[in-house]
Amino acid sequence: MSSSILEAMIVASLTGGSILRKYFEKENFSVIQKSVSYDLVTNIDKESQEGINAILTQRFPDIPVIGEEGSIQTGRQTRAFYVDPLDGTFNFVHHYPFFSVSLGYWEENEPVAGVVFDPIRRDLFFAQKGEGAFFNGERIYASDRTSLEGSYLVTGFPYKEGKHPRIEKEIRAVMKLTDLRVLGSAALELCYVAKGIIDGYWEYDLSSWDLAGGVLIAQEAGAVVTNPSGVDFNLFEGDVLAAPPVIHQKLLEVIKSEQLGI
Ligand code: IPD
Ligand code: CA
Ligand code: CA
Repeated sequence: MSSSILEAMIVASLTGGSILRKYFEKENFSVIQKSVSYDLVTNIDKESQEGINAILTQRFPDIPVIGEEGSIQTGRQTRAFYVDPLDGTFNFVHHYPFFSVSLGYWEENEPVAGVVFDPIRRDLFFAQKGEGAFFNGERIYASDRTSLEGSYLVTGFPYKEGKHPRIEKEIRAVMKLTDLRVLGSAALELCYVAKGIIDGYWEYDLSSWDLAGGVLIAQEAGAVVTNPSGVDFNLFEGDVLAAPPVIHQKLLEVIKSEQLGI
């Protein structure tokens, strides 16, 4: 991959992030409900998307952009940028400073580059396939913890109510072993797995733009990424389990035994 793709993604993430930071401080934005009361979008999500798309398409007019708040189609579909211009809108709207801009570049269903930017902390995470994961320029690694007891585990709640019984059972099982958090930005949660802050993370029903960047960053930091049944990760199915190898195996056992009703 040409390094200019990664560079453009970084510039685009900083541009989107500066838009988010500006309005987060001013608290001046309008909110629209998409599905349930906590599935929100603001005019700032859209402004961030426009800023990001303008940079990506100016530099790479032949590469499609699949964005949560606006896509740009080109003739070629075997590669694309997947963009979430504001991952964590519910946090943003409630003035909770944990959200991000997420970009992933995939070719032939394989991740090639990922960039996630937290504009409040000015934390920049990025990775290229085979070249490691980086946080503000420093190489990062997933945690070396091997015990689930006392580990920092994170999940999220799907918007579709039909999926709730499944996650509720899994949460009950996990909470017999350790505490659990829901932080509200899938992309940033994956980066915290990459940085060894979060020991394990799983969630259902996400979208390609939530996952395309963070999944590669977590993998390049040494985490194992599958779906929560242990099957190969699929960007378009939206279910993910990311953790360093031993925790991944143990967490998978707990979650799967709940799925199978054991
Ligand atoms: C949401 C966040 C959240 C996850 C939701 C996503 P959005 O993205 O990633 O952590 O639990 O499922 O939709 O809507 O804020 O871009
Ligand atoms: Ca999102
Ligand atoms: Ca979003």
